[in-house]
Amino acid sequence: MFKKITNLLTAISFFAVTTLFGFSASAQQTPIVIKLSHVVAENTPKGLASLKFKELAEKKLPGKVQVQVFPNSQLFGDAKELEALLLNDVQIINPSLSKFDRYTKKIQVFDLPFLFKDSKAANAFQNSAEGKALLKSMEDKGLIGLEYWANGMRHFSTNKDFRVPADIKGLKFRIQASDVYESLMKAFGANGQKMAFAEVYQALQTGVVDGQENTFSNMYSQKFHEVQKTIVETNHGILDYMVVVNAKWWNGLPADVRKGLAEAMKEATIYNNKISQEKNDEAKKAIMDSGKAKVVKLTDAQLAEWKKAVAPVYAQFEKDIGADLIKAAQKYSQPAQPKAEKPATKK
Ligand code: LMR
Repeated sequence: MFKKITNLLTAISFFAVTTLFGFSASAQQTPIVIKLSHVVAENTPKGLASLKFKELAEKKLPGKVQVQVFPNSQLFGDAKELEALLLNDVQIINPSLSKFDRYTKKIQVFDLPFLFKDSKAANAFQNSAEGKALLKSMEDKGLIGLEYWANGMRHFSTNKDFRVPADIKGLKFRIQASDVYESLMKAFGANGQKMAFAEVYQALQTGVVDGQENTFSNMYSQKFHEVQKTIVETNHGILDYMVVVNAKWWNGLPADVRKGLAEAMKEATIYNNKISQEKNDEAKKAIMDSGKAKVVKLTDAQLAEWKKAVAPVYAQFEKDIGADLIKAAQKYSQPAQPKAEKPATKK
């Protein structure tokens, strides 16, 4: 009897010990899996910075996190990625700032044409109090912005030769899901067609659209230059990103993990912003060297025609975005860029 009880106690304590240790060992061995999905190629500022984030996060939080990066719309494309984030099917995404207008009208400020004279001006605004506040502007919708990542300046391309807005009258352009860009194409006398990034090459190749607008890095990595005749350096806007997370998921992470991830993201941001100009310069050179699309610089007079045409866009969006926010952004691009046309007052 005594032996039976001893055996039973030994079995119970063995079970307790193995369960306890087994459980804590497996808890330690089960890293939090974080999926990061984006739509561009790996050899772009965003593609490389996403991989840098993975490297830094896994180094800072060994065994605690595993970051899986899915480039090229492999996991989710433009149409689905924000919804998927809200469903927690993906934990981090970094869409272009043009793709948030369903969630906030304020972020449309970044799409206003010729608002920023260059990437540096955009970066200075993003680091200002107003810029940082926009990272938090979608919290009520379940999205938290962690950082801005730069890509660079956007340019127009088409399958014909062109210099000024009159030359693109009536042409069809692929645009991102942005109401500001839809209005911009109208202001130029052209038509904007909203389309996911992954579909653009084929649409250009088959003539579904005549042109598009993007950074050199995106044009080169997607081979747009192979199916376009002319790229004009319009520098009409920035193509930057917001790294966003699902607020509930983020706030529910263990504090040390959240801190480590935030630090890794900050470092990846510095890396991204360091390589973005360089990657775009390399891509521009590669396009020029390819002898495919011609890259054209505008004269001051030609550029003035593009700038003059955009006043109605400011008039249309000033109310939703807020005149103060537009002014705050313009401050970094003195002398002032285009102003909203005041509607004529009735006498
Ligand atoms: C586009 O849709 O053209 C870009 O936003 C793609 C990207 O993420 O750079």
